[in-house]
Amino acid sequence: MLSSKLQSSPPTDNISLEQQQEWDEFLVNFFSNEPLSKSPLQSIFEPLRYPTFDDMVVVGQIGQTLDGRIATVTGQSRYVNGPGGLTHLHQLRALVDAVVIGVGTALADDPQLTVRQIKGKNPARVVIDPRAGLSHQHLVWRDDGVKKIWIVAEGVTASPPPQVELMMLPAQNGAIDPALILKSLNLRAVKRILIEGGAETVSRFIAAKCLDRLHLIVAPIIMGSGRLSFNLPPIEHMDQALRLPIQTHQLGNDVVFDCDLQTQRISLNKE
Ligand SMILES: NC(=O)c1ccc[n+]([C@@H]2O[C@H](COP(=O)([O-])OP(=O)(O)OC[C@H]3O[C@@H](n4cnc5c(N)ncnc54)[C@H](OP(=O)(O)O)[C@@H]3O)[C@@H](O)[C@H]2O)c1
Repeated sequence: MLSSKLQSSPPTDNISLEQQQEWDEFLVNFFSNEPLSKSPLQSIFEPLRYPTFDDMVVVGQIGQTLDGRIATVTGQSRYVNGPGGLTHLHQLRALVDAVVIGVGTALADDPQLTVRQIKGKNPARVVIDPRAGLSHQHLVWRDDGVKKIWIVAEGVTASPPPQVELMMLPAQNGAIDPALILKSLNLRAVKRILIEGGAETVSRFIAAKCLDRLHLIVAPIIMGSGRLSFNLPPIEHMDQALRLPIQTHQLGNDVVFDCDLQTQRISLNKE
C-alpha cells in the first residue's frame, strides 16, 4: 500500500561528503556580505538572501506528490519526499530566522522543525493556533534554547508552556491576517521566514499576497487520494489563476519548483 510506504522511516540521508562541504561553504557565504559564488545551491537559494519590498523575505514550502497531495486521507505526510527533498527542507530551515506552521501540522506530525540533516542553526518555531488547542506536550515546545512563539486569537484563554512567548493577535471569524503575523514577527527581529505548512496555512499566506517565493517539492508518487496542496478561493476563469515564473531544480528523485510570487507580494511597510 502507498500509505504504509508514506509512514516508513525517514528517507536515508545520502548527502555525500562533497555535498556536505559545498553546503558548509555555501552557508558561510550566504550569511556573509560577499557575493555568492556560482553553484547549484546559489541558484536555488540566492532569491532568499535579500528582501525586495520591505525588510522581510517570506518563503513557503509544500512537499507534494505528482497528483498534488501533501498527505493521505488520514493526514499522514511522512514521507512524501525522498532524501533530496528532505535535505532541501532542512537547508531552507537553516537559512531562515523562523519556521511557521499551522496547528493542523503540529497536531498531525508533532514536528521538531530542526536542522538535523545538515549543518546550520535551528530557527525559531512559530505555531498559528487561533483557538489555543495545542497542548504543552508537543515537540515544538520542547525547551532547547530556541525561541518559540504561540500565535493565538485575541480574547482566547491560553496558558503558554514555559519558555514559549504567547502572541495574541486580532482575528476575524477565526482568521488572523498573515500580514499582521509577519509584521508582529518582524518586531521580534525575524526577517527571513519559512512558512512550512500545512496546506491551509501556506494557502492563507498566498491568498494574502504575503509570500515572496514558494518551493513546491514534487515527489514521483501518485497518491490517488488525500489532502490537496492548496485551498484557495475558487476562480471562474483561467486568467484568474496564478501563473508564476518558475525555476526547477532536481533534488535526487524529487524536483523543486521555485515559484516567484513577487509580482503579487504586498509591502509590509504600508499601512
Ligand atoms: N507535505 C508537506 O509539505 C506538509 C507540510 C506540513 C504539513 N503537512 C500535512 O498537512 C496536514 C495539515 O495541514 P492542514 O492544512 O490541515 O493544517 P495546517 O495548515 O497545518 O493548520 C491549519 C490551521 O492552522 C490555523 N491557521 C493557520 N493559518 C491561520 C491564520 N492565518 N489565521 C488563523 N488560523 C490559522 C487554523 O487553525 P484552526 O483550525 O484552529 O482555525 C487552521 O485550520 C497534515 O496532514 C500534515 O501532515 C504536509
